Amino acid sequence: MKLVHYLLLLFCVGLSFCKTLHSLVQEDLLDEKCLKEKYTHQSCEKVFCHPWEKCIDGSCICKLPYQCPKAVMLVCATTGKTYNNYCQLKSHECIYPKTKFLTNGTCHGQGQFDLYLKYGNTESEGLVEVKLGNATAFICKKNWTITEANVACFYRGFKGGAVDYKKTFNFPGDVDVRITECLEANCRGLETTLAECVLTKRKANSKDLAGVVCHTQEAALLNDDSFQCVNGKYIPQEKTCDGINDCGDQSDELCCKGCRSGFLCKSGVCIPKKYQCNGELDCIGGDDEMNCEETGNSEHEVQEQAERLSANTDEDRKLLKSLLPKLSCGVRNTTHTRRKRIVGGKIATQGQFPWQVAIKEGEKLHCGGIYIGGCWVLTAAHCVRKNVAHRYQIWTGLLDWIKINNGTGIRRVNRVIIHEQYSGTTYQNDIALIEMKKHPTKTTCELENTTPACVPWSKYLFKPGDKCFISGLGQNEGIKNIYKLKWGEVKLIDNCSQYYSHRFFEKEMECAGTDDGSIDACKGDSGGPLVCMDSNDVFYVWGIVSWGENCGKPEFPGVYTKVSNYFDWISHHVGRSLIAQYNV
Ligand code: ARG
Repeated sequence: MKLVHYLLLLFCVGLSFCKTLHSLVQEDLLDEKCLKEKYTHQSCEKVFCHPWEKCIDGSCICKLPYQCPKAVMLVCATTGKTYNNYCQLKSHECIYPKTKFLTNGTCHGQGQFDLYLKYGNTESEGLVEVKLGNATAFICKKNWTITEANVACFYRGFKGGAVDYKKTFNFPGDVDVRITECLEANCRGLETTLAECVLTKRKANSKDLAGVVCHTQEAALLNDDSFQCVNGKYIPQEKTCDGINDCGDQSDELCCKGCRSGFLCKSGVCIPKKYQCNGELDCIGGDDEMNCEETGNSEHEVQEQAERLSANTDEDRKLLKSLLPKLSCGVRNTTHTRRKRIVGGKIATQGQFPWQVAIKEGEKLHCGGIYIGGCWVLTAAHCVRKNVAHRYQIWTGLLDWIKINNGTGIRRVNRVIIHEQYSGTTYQNDIALIEMKKHPTKTTCELENTTPACVPWSKYLFKPGDKCFISGLGQNEGIKNIYKLKWGEVKLIDNCSQYYSHRFFEKEMECAGTDDGSIDACKGDSGGPLVCMDSNDVFYVWGIVSWGENCGKPEFPGVYTKVSNYFDWISHHVGRSLIAQYNV
């Protein structure tokens, strides 16, 4: 919060105009431009999909059960059917919502699960009672939060989740119940039934029971500074960006510039503090699992002498997540220290930029390219022409093209795919794919000394100010060609239209450079990589060298094709499984 705001707030406590001022300050945490995108827990540009979902065109959609890991960790569904594991059950639930998790292990007539709201004034509120097996029990107030309340409401069919979880409900006078126990629920928040949460039996009396008011049109508490969730629910402004999913669809946590509480992912998402260093990636950039103490016992469950009644589906979920196939990309095998200080461009060593390739046309080394896996190289559209594919050669592992080094590979080109909307005048969509020919004796395109760079699936993986690297065999401004692979560290630059008014297209282009302009790409580097490293030291091809006014002028930074904008275009041509990092 800005100091001025803070002082004004102190000054005007209790005055009526303060409310407006208050909301102004609150809004500081929300990114308005991002809110327009209407992100939810299903938006894989912001969050990871569940292990039983995959990310298609920016949305998490259900996998088919056979796409789940095959591990056998039997679970029983409410339909009486046993599934090999939780993922397979959940992917069935996507198609048949009646298939809900019941218990771990095989089904053998253990009865049913159900949930009722009791003693409220309407159908959408009351004390929460669950039927588990043949017994019924009320849920405890202890540890009952909006997270658990949302799950109870989802189960009853209220898509917006809960609006209140603190309201108390009393037993009607004519009901004679003696409460001695209740079930404490602990959920992650996106479960579809309380049976998926950890349920623990506690001693209790009738004052210890949880109540809930589910979201309906009528229950919507609207006032001038409420925040409207993507699902239509209104929540108080001060419940946004606090790491808690109040909306039920997480839309209150996905466009944040800061967090009131919780942990702020670089991608602008607030997550609960307890997800930090818990051994599971929650931020898409992996920043929640960075700089963690090695001990890793930050979240050790203190099991009191209580009886846990349900399975721990969260453990199953984590285990299944770890069993999903993983792509190998963006990892180099040299031990180069991160964030090394650079002055001019430096000469690269073998293995430092293993995705860098050179494109030769005839005798001329004419552009750079980026190996992204399989037989595929990414480059700039302005580098290649479709009908001369036979004239190109892809050189891999090349460090010096006068004294050709060991470990250099040469491949011929099968075909060239240029973006349909590439414009040679504006340089919009300056992106192309080159498919290499396989080595005659091999079935794959595997290349020596070459590792693919990862393809970014979200524009929120990196942001202005992040340090990234450019590399290429191009010219040095002024000096003659040096014919060596060079690299430099640059930072992503915000608001580039100030340098290139009318010529810079935010959605499709990215600017990068240094304050003094000393490091830049130049003639001959086109088509080559701008790579950025995530929190786990994995490299992503964030940009393709495209254009710039002169080279190395601070007032004219280098312009790159913004690769994240083309993830779907690339995966359409090369196949999702080659580049989709998570949830293939
Ligand atoms: N279009 C140039 C080429 O074909 C790349 C220019 C990049 N310029 C820059 N200042 N970053 O090689």
